[in-house]
Amino acid sequence: MIGAAQPRVTVANELLDKIYSLDGILHSQFKSRLVIEPALSRTVVSFQASKQQPAYRWYKFKEAYSPWLVDYLLSRYNIKSGKILDPFAGSGTTLFAASRLGFETHGIELLPIGQAVIQARMVVEKKLAPREIQRIAEWKNKAPWKKANRTNLLELKITRKAYPPKTKESIEKYLKACGQEPKDAETILRFLLMCVLESVSYTRKDGQYLRWDHRSERMAGKKPFHKGPILDFDQAITLKLDQFLNDIGETANPPDLLDLSRKKNSKVPIKLLDGSCLEIMQKLKASHYDAIITSPPYCNRYDYTRTYALELALLGVDEKTLLNLRQQMLSCTVENRSKNLLEINPAWIKAIEASEGQKLLQNILDFLENQKEEGLLNNNGIPRMIRGYFYEMACVISESARVLRPGGMMFMVNDNVRYAGVEISVDLILSSIAEKLGFQTRQILVLPQVKGNSSQQMGFHGRTPLRKCVYVWEKK
Ligand SMILES: C[S@@+](CC[C@H](N)C(=O)[O-])C[C@H]1O[C@@H](n2cnc3c(N)ncnc32)[C@H](O)[C@@H]1O
Repeated sequence: MIGAAQPRVTVANELLDKIYSLDGILHSQFKSRLVIEPALSRTVVSFQASKQQPAYRWYKFKEAYSPWLVDYLLSRYNIKSGKILDPFAGSGTTLFAASRLGFETHGIELLPIGQAVIQARMVVEKKLAPREIQRIAEWKNKAPWKKANRTNLLELKITRKAYPPKTKESIEKYLKACGQEPKDAETILRFLLMCVLESVSYTRKDGQYLRWDHRSERMAGKKPFHKGPILDFDQAITLKLDQFLNDIGETANPPDLLDLSRKKNSKVPIKLLDGSCLEIMQKLKASHYDAIITSPPYCNRYDYTRTYALELALLGVDEKTLLNLRQQMLSCTVENRSKNLLEINPAWIKAIEASEGQKLLQNILDFLENQKEEGLLNNNGIPRMIRGYFYEMACVISESARVLRPGGMMFMVNDNVRYAGVEISVDLILSSIAEKLGFQTRQILVLPQVKGNSSQQMGFHGRTPLRKCVYVWEKK
């Protein structure tokens, strides 16, 4: 125990020593299962690999992994059929990739952006009627929005003046014209508009927020940032319509499988459940799924509701809904308030206890509280965010164990993080919690280090690169 009378620096040092020692113990516990997996390049475990891929390239969801990862995991762990769940579905990579392989897939997604991507892709998978394809082709060739009236494009405080005035006018006309199209064509046309917003705006998605170009009125007197060319609206949307029309011809035989002989011909239904997995998972049937393949938000302060604000405004999310979505998200930003997890589900007491009993986690939380009291954190919300992240993840893990059949597999992509100079072994902590909640850790597949990951790239001397992994857990 650390006595109250000790000098503050000693307290912090003792806590740090304890963290290193507990991290070492956990590391040796998992040592034989921590394996560097050369097949898992950063390209495959990120959006990179999908950049040129028909359908996946329509909307650049930077937080996505590639369909090859899904294929690789199912093949490597010999999962041949059944039902698959992704509780953090994002743009639906798990759903579409596994469905191609003949799996029935269910996804849960909280944010309307991911939902819109998945819904548009479901419309395409179901097959667009020739009449609807014809309408979309007419939009490409005749640009009917140019003659339409305007309808109001919702603005949020953080999206005000995001477009040049002429572009805003074109977007509003496009939206008005969409409303006159048949249902599926309208879904696709609105989705394609969402796909070009960033390219025609003064903003760029960047780290934890939107960066504003110096040409925007909002930037008067601020540090200059040049995002490069800002595309003309008519040109950008016409190119996107063209890409879409080209790709739908090709999706009938997608090159998104490692081994095309594994492709099943039947189209298996995909189901999307809109909302928070913390609310929805508890309503799913026990032992129903054969596998879970997922990637939650990382514990890295990345705020999807800010980065994707243009898209959210287009989808009609107002200020109040935005705040509500931000709070419902898995705690990964300093703005998240604590959630009352036991009020959501009293059965999560075991998950809470597993987190309370995780010594490394508790020591990290003590250390961060100490750093907060010393005024050494760059944001005082960090300890609350990290606590929320692990406790909420523990609840998701316990629900995952409940909905998987015995022997079912869970795969999770996640990154370790660093705060106040301390690396947090998210991989080891979550695996240790998972083992208390009905899983056995088969492996923790570590992505190979990026070449040239020098101390220079890592910010300052002595820092080791953070592990990026795919956890492989089996339901006992
Ligand atoms: C890393 S992304 C998943 C990317 C996905 N694997 C793909 O390939 O597109 C994490 C997703 O979790 C979603 N999310 C965050 N909190 C959530 C919650 N409580 N319930 C459901 N989804 C949530 C985010 O909106 C985001 O789309």
